[in-house]
Amino acid sequence: MTSDPVRLGVAGLGRAFMLTLPAFQADPRIRLVAAAAPRAESRAAFERDFGGTGYASVDELASDPNVEAIYVATPHQMHADHVIAALKGGKHVLVDKPLSVSMEDAERMVAAAEESGGHLIVGPSHSFDAPVALARRLIDSGEFGALRMVQAFNYTDFLYRPRRPEELRTEEGGGVLFSQGIHQIDMVRLLCGGQAETLFAMTGNWDPDRPTEGAYSALLSFAGGAFATLTYSGYAHFDSDIWMDDIGELGAPKPSGGYGAARSALIGLDAESEAKLKTTRTFGQGKAPAKATHHEHFGPVIAICDRADLRLTPGGVEIFADTERRFVEAPVGPVPRQEVIDALYGAVRQGRAPAQSGHWGLASLEVCHAILTSAETGAPVRLGRQCGLNQEEIEHE
Ligand SMILES: NC(=O)c1ccc[n+]([C@@H]2O[C@H](COP(=O)([O-])OP(=O)(O)OC[C@H]3O[C@@H](n4cnc5c(N)ncnc54)[C@H](O)[C@@H]3O)[C@@H](O)[C@H]2O)c1
Repeated sequence: MTSDPVRLGVAGLGRAFMLTLPAFQADPRIRLVAAAAPRAESRAAFERDFGGTGYASVDELASDPNVEAIYVATPHQMHADHVIAALKGGKHVLVDKPLSVSMEDAERMVAAAEESGGHLIVGPSHSFDAPVALARRLIDSGEFGALRMVQAFNYTDFLYRPRRPEELRTEEGGGVLFSQGIHQIDMVRLLCGGQAETLFAMTGNWDPDRPTEGAYSALLSFAGGAFATLTYSGYAHFDSDIWMDDIGELGAPKPSGGYGAARSALIGLDAESEAKLKTTRTFGQGKAPAKATHHEHFGPVIAICDRADLRLTPGGVEIFADTERRFVEAPVGPVPRQEVIDALYGAVRQGRAPAQSGHWGLASLEVCHAILTSAETGAPVRLGRQCGLNQEEIEHE
C-alpha cells in the first residue's frame, strides 16, 4: 500500500469520470477526496461511494486545503476557467482532452501553470496507451532505423452517440476534431517526436441533422523528415475495431449483435431527450464500462521505419522486420489508464512531468485548428506552436 497517495479532487462527474474511475479506484497511489458537480444526485453519489466532500462549484473545490490535485472532466468549453481556478488554488491539474477549444484559452492555461508552478497534464488521451509508449521505445531503440511514415485511421459511430447540443457545434468544440481527432493527433505526435511542421487536410460535414465535422483526412509533416496520415470517420457503418481483433476503444471485447445500436437509439429523439439520454451514461446513473481485457486503443496505427513496420495492437506491437515477424507484448494491468496515474503520481510526488504537458496539449490543439483551417482555405498550414517530447520548441520562420 502506498503510504502517501495523491489526494485528488474531481471537477465534473460525467462520462469521462466514469471511464477513468476504475483506474482511480484500483490504484493505491490515488485517494478521491472531493468533487464538484452541479447536480445534487451526483454529489450525493460521490459522497456515498468515496466518503469525500461534494461541492457545487469548482471554485469551492479549488479552495479545499485537503485537495492536492484536480482532475478536470467538465465539458471542453469550461476547461479554461476550471483549470485556471485549480492552478490559482495551488493545485496540480490533470485535465481531460482537449486542453481547451480556443488557442487563446490554451495559452492562458499554459501561462497560469507556469505562474503557479503547478503541474498541468492533459489526459487521459490515447497517447498514454501502453502500446503507443512501447512503439515509441522501439523506435527510440534505433534497432529499426529511422521512422519514415505513420498511418493512423479510425472508423466509429461517434457522431451518433448521444450528445448535448453544443457537442454538435464546431465553434463550441463540437464535432470529431476536438473530441476524437485530438487523440489521434496526440498519438501520432508522440510517435513522430512531437514537432509537427506543415499540414494539409480536408474535412467532411455530411449530415445536415448533425451539422459539424464528422470526418477528416490530414497529411502532416514532422521535423526530422517523417510524415503521417490521419483519417477519422465518425459516420462509419464499417467499424475499424474489426481490424483491432474486435477489441473496442476501451479495451473490452466488442459485444456481438450490437450493429447499428448508436443510430437506432437516436431514432425519434429531439435534442432535449438526446441530452437526457447522455446523462444516463454518467457517474451515479450509468453502467460501469465492461471489464477491459486488453489495452485501450484508438484504431489501427502503423509506423513504418527503415528496417521494420510496427503495427500497434490492443496487446502490444507486432514487428514486421526484414527477415522476421515477431510480437512484443505490452503487459495488461488489472485496469486501464494506469499510465495516466503513473504520470500524475510521477509529477506530483516525484516532480517528473510527462510529455503530455499543457504545452503539449496546446500543440495538439494547434493541429486540430490547422485541420479546420486547411479544409476551409484549401491551403497547407504551417504550424508554429509545437513542442517535442521534452517540451523543447522549434522556431519556424
Ligand atoms: N478521455 C476520455 O476517454 C474521455 C471520454 C469522454 C469525455 N472526455 C472528455 O471529458 C470532458 C467531459 O466530457 P463528458 O463526455 O464526460 O461530458 P459529460 O456531459 O458526460 O460530463 C460533464 C460533467 O460536467 C458537469 N459539469 C457541468 N458544469 C459543471 C461545473 N460548472 N462544475 C462542475 N461540473 C460541471 C456536468 O454535470 C457533467 O456531469 C470533455 O472535455 C471530453 O472531451 C474524455
